[in-house]
Amino acid sequence: MAPASTSEQLDRLRLESISAGVGFVTTRYIESAKGAILRDVDGREYIDFAGGIAVMNIGHNHPKVVAAIKNQADKLIHTCFMVNPYEPAVRLAEKLCQITPGDFPKRAAFLNSGAEAVENAVKIARCNTGRPAIIVFENAYHGRTLLTMTMTSKVKPYKLGFGPFAPEVYRMPFGDKAPASALKDFFVQHVNPEAVAAVVAEPVQGEGGFIAPPPGYFQELVKICRDNGILFIADEIQSGMGRTGKMFAIEHWGVEPDLITVAKSLAAGMPLAAVVGRQEIMDAVHPWGLGGTYGGNPVACAAALAVLEVFEEENMLAKSAALGEKLKSRFDSWQKKFDLVASVRGMGAMLGLELTKGPGGEPAADEAKQLTAACLEKGLVLLSCGTFGNIIRVLAPFVITDEQLERGLSILEQELARLSA
Ligand SMILES: Cc1ncc(COP(=O)(O)O)c(C=O)c1O
Repeated sequence: MAPASTSEQLDRLRLESISAGVGFVTTRYIESAKGAILRDVDGREYIDFAGGIAVMNIGHNHPKVVAAIKNQADKLIHTCFMVNPYEPAVRLAEKLCQITPGDFPKRAAFLNSGAEAVENAVKIARCNTGRPAIIVFENAYHGRTLLTMTMTSKVKPYKLGFGPFAPEVYRMPFGDKAPASALKDFFVQHVNPEAVAAVVAEPVQGEGGFIAPPPGYFQELVKICRDNGILFIADEIQSGMGRTGKMFAIEHWGVEPDLITVAKSLAAGMPLAAVVGRQEIMDAVHPWGLGGTYGGNPVACAAALAVLEVFEEENMLAKSAALGEKLKSRFDSWQKKFDLVASVRGMGAMLGLELTKGPGGEPAADEAKQLTAACLEKGLVLLSCGTFGNIIRVLAPFVITDEQLERGLSILEQELARLSA
């Protein structure tokens, strides 16, 4: 064993060995985690309001997930699902087809990351419709690969210097800025609807700033899609797996997407993603058109099956809804109390604070940075997001205890007060 290292020593090693192109929110090196608590190599503890960016909805190292991973690793780690298939992947596919919205036959395909799932959803939509174009939204985030970076809205850091971008991606304002009927104008001004394979939307926008559209938005948008032979793809990579109080956020609008992308909290930290959708659409792709070496890895699928059991056994949706209510009432009170807090954004336990320099003022991105840094010093890991970097977002595990939540919120409140003074 190498001698024990401090965060400072490890960070020196990082600077000598990791590309400067990889950004870091903190440089506290984490040794272990449980539930909503992280412990670093220096023996400090943190309350985790980031959840590994929306990955730990059921909490870090849930014993059931750890046991499932160990058990599967003892038996089989890899064959490639396309070479020698195995049980955990087909069991998980069956479950995903059941729990995704829509009472119609569905099929799934497994990938490794969220970006890969979005790429594959677009491939499937194009193959199915024979159309090239994709419509996405302002403030969207879909990943960092060529196509998903193109679909992503924010220039710096995601797109800067990385062009040329993928063709046939069109961007329109989201529901907070324009009604769904704007899609009809878009067909006149930007793209022929007969050339559009799919509209891809995050039901609640994540990285773009925890933006939920108004009631009725998705119903109307999807009707316009259907009237024009356009598929509707819901990117539930951040908003799914119970984050908004329903298993998938799009259920709040009663909409049944043609395709859904899932990743992040699906396998509680193991790399796993999926596209799930209408059987006739998923099956219209020729054999071998979809796949990859690692997609649907057995250890990751075993972890995801355990996650889904935990959702049922421990009533995770109710826990998420309760967390969302507690956050909302506290955040609403801060909006009244602090000029810095312009609005409370998001849905359920996917909740954020919009910070501006006073009412109607500029986005307060520097203040958001100072706030996350000050909270870290006090033992709270917190993320910002938003196209202007001025949204403080909470993605805490649903299993966070009342005492931990209160400690985390008190730190945040104290630091908000200090910044507002
Ligand atoms: C809505 C959404 N789509 C896609 C992605 C990309 O997922 P990944 O980082 O696993 O490629 C993310 C990641 O934050 C996301 O929030």
